[in-house]
Amino acid sequence: MMLRRLHKDQPASFAFTPANEAWAKGQISKYPAGRQASAIIPLLWRAQEQEGWLSRPAIEHVADMLGMAYIRALEVATFYFMFQLQPVGSVAHVQICGTTSCMICGAEDLVAVAKELIAPTPHTLSADGKFSWEEVECMGACANAPMAQIGKDYYEDLTGEKLRELIGRFSKGEVPVPGPQNGRYAAEPAGGLTSLKEFVSGRKQYNASAQAAVDLKDTVKRIDGTEVPLTTPWLGVAAPVKPAKAKAVEPKPSAGVPADATGATVQEAKATSKGKPQSDGNAPNATPLATPKAKASGQAGGAKPAGLSAPKGGKADDLKLILGIGPKLEVLCHKLGFFHFDQIAAWTEAEIAWVDENLEGFKGRVTRDKWVVQAKVLAAGGSVADAEAAARG
Ligand code: FES
Repeated sequence: MMLRRLHKDQPASFAFTPANEAWAKGQISKYPAGRQASAIIPLLWRAQEQEGWLSRPAIEHVADMLGMAYIRALEVATFYFMFQLQPVGSVAHVQICGTTSCMICGAEDLVAVAKELIAPTPHTLSADGKFSWEEVECMGACANAPMAQIGKDYYEDLTGEKLRELIGRFSKGEVPVPGPQNGRYAAEPAGGLTSLKEFVSGRKQYNASAQAAVDLKDTVKRIDGTEVPLTTPWLGVAAPVKPAKAKAVEPKPSAGVPADATGATVQEAKATSKGKPQSDGNAPNATPLATPKAKASGQAGGAKPAGLSAPKGGKADDLKLILGIGPKLEVLCHKLGFFHFDQIAAWTEAEIAWVDENLEGFKGRVTRDKWVVQAKVLAAGGSVADAEAAARG
């Protein structure tokens, strides 16, 4: 297990959103006078849900709310690996169990896949900013070893290839069903139940935790409808790029994709630094990173959709009706020339890729929250509930 330290880059301040502030005060009110510190875990978790990770200002803000010494709050935040002390992937942080049962059953294969697809080192964002990973201690699912927690849920009975497939699916905006990935219902013998067989009738499609995840549909969502700047919004970048390696890439000014100081895209720099071809990002065993094939077809950075200089008829649609777009993202959309549902509804795959790449601090949200699916419903006069249902369907 790694030494858990506060991240070297910290935002200047932290504040709960009004809704989260009210929620936090409600949590504190559950505890008797003098015992408010007991609310520290849910409050820290809510702060992490809001920001994606726990910054020092966030930890201190929670400590202030609870009347605790900062060091007491820091002790809690730095002890539990459920709390992320550095920016995490915008889609998911992958926690791979590396303790005895999982290690014996193949955890090293999972770590190898994470190193290949996400980043060579833990707690490092993938080149597209979508993923990060770390190795953690036993998560209590030893009977389904090896396993990983991805987002909020356990993915069990894994192999390296299964994890590769899962990351590829998450990268495409899918949310694979959690739980055992080898066909087991729960933790019964691999050959099937040997006793208590009568309890099989009437059970749900998935085991209780997997069923709850499927029903809640929030495996990799933080808080429904809330914008979560999961990367490093105050820096305006998703992932660090080593200039020495990026310099080897020829700038492509016509591509219309974000470039680092050298003119190379983050993906190009990553691909170059690896020096080897990668698999097709649309294949079942997809890597989330850009691929030679994708780059050749213009998919790596995508194509900028046509924007408007002003809303049609002087009135923009309320883009916040799209689940996942809040005030900040709406302003960002307007800056990019997107004011109407029908504009978003018409985006092609390449255009989605471009917008995903150019949402500063919110990379990958178009795909993750299925904006286009929702926009099509709203543009056709459907309700917000219809749009949400379409996105979840
Ligand atoms: S050893 Fe991996 S979950 Fe227990």
